[in-house]
Amino acid sequence: MLRPRTWLPEHTPEPSGDSTPVSQLFTPITLRDVTIRNRVWVAPMCQYSAVDGLPNDWHLVHLGSFARGGAGLVISEATAVVPEGRISPDDAGLWNDEQQAAWARIVEFVHDQGATAGIQLAHAGRKASTYSGFTAARGAVPEADGGWRPVGPSAAPYPGLHEDPEPLDAAGIARVVTAFGDAAERAVAAGFDVLEVHAAHGYLIHEFLSPLSNHREDEYGGPFEHRARLALEVVREIRGRVDAGVPVIVRLSATDWLDDGWNVEETVQLAALLREEGVDLVDTSTGGNAPAEIPVGPGYQVPFARRVRAEAQVPTGAVGLITDAKQAEDILADGSADVVLLGRELLRDPHWPLHAARELGEDATDLWPVQYRRAAPR
Ligand code: FNR
Repeated sequence: MLRPRTWLPEHTPEPSGDSTPVSQLFTPITLRDVTIRNRVWVAPMCQYSAVDGLPNDWHLVHLGSFARGGAGLVISEATAVVPEGRISPDDAGLWNDEQQAAWARIVEFVHDQGATAGIQLAHAGRKASTYSGFTAARGAVPEADGGWRPVGPSAAPYPGLHEDPEPLDAAGIARVVTAFGDAAERAVAAGFDVLEVHAAHGYLIHEFLSPLSNHREDEYGGPFEHRARLALEVVREIRGRVDAGVPVIVRLSATDWLDDGWNVEETVQLAALLREEGVDLVDTSTGGNAPAEIPVGPGYQVPFARRVRAEAQVPTGAVGLITDAKQAEDILADGSADVVLLGRELLRDPHWPLHAARELGEDATDLWPVQYRRAAPR
């Protein structure tokens, strides 16, 4: 449902919502029971600013400003489902009541701005326990400095990070799957409308998918069906633990950008299986599981979203160097994706959706927060 803005003086009229969109970008999209006001979504972005996994005022203002700025879906950063699944000791988490309550406060503000709230549920696998990059130290955090020994599919490390990740045994895998389900339940209880599973960027689920990092010889390693098992189990667990009206989306890396790595054909195959498990959209990114040459440029990952959408018949999100309103509109209009996700451009300008709406000829007055409406261009 589209939510009313409750955080307004009583005499303020609700947005009329009766202007018809002229662009794809500002046409609402409905996934299951959730209608999202437009197709400018905030890509999840780690802030490395939590203490003991607890989001705080930084997260409120950071995520709140995207909601204020007119984004449709505000997806919070990679949020660890277990403490050892954090990329850094400063990551946000969602494994206890205190974290759930802290997230609920942020979600309430996002809703009050008319946006939809999403959360990316994550486990960093062998890339856990690294320095955030905000300190002089880089790479693996030793136990003496608050780090821990990460887990992974196999003993193979990510180059330059912890040298001895602990291969998960069957019980460990089952605990991870359950933890994703627990966090999903907590996310819904905190008010999140959309759940994103982080299966990209070389973190645990992607590590299982890719033959570069998965050297297992059991039912979780080897052929595609085995490597895909964890991703499918996580989605099945989440689907079984939340209401059927809650959209579940998955972020995939469509390729490792290496000849012998995870590739787009496997991504298409997995996306179709995910659709059958009840996944509503594939947020299509790339890379992160091994150092590789990536041909970065405007919209460089869009062709992957297009291919997944066409061949797996599942809605997709396109992400990566999408910075311009016309560019975003064209991606939707030419059928490459159903939504766009913006990261760094929204950090530069959290009000990007307000400007983009004007550029695309929308009557965007309702999108402006009432408190700022006198500044809205007419
Ligand atoms: C990211 N990215 C990212 N991706 C993800 O899946 N989970 C995350 O928590 C993060 N964290 C993160 C932090 C910061 C500061 C940046 C800039 C990026 C990747 C992000 O979601 C996006 O895919 C890329 O930034 C590419 O999109 P842009 O920035 O070119 O629009």
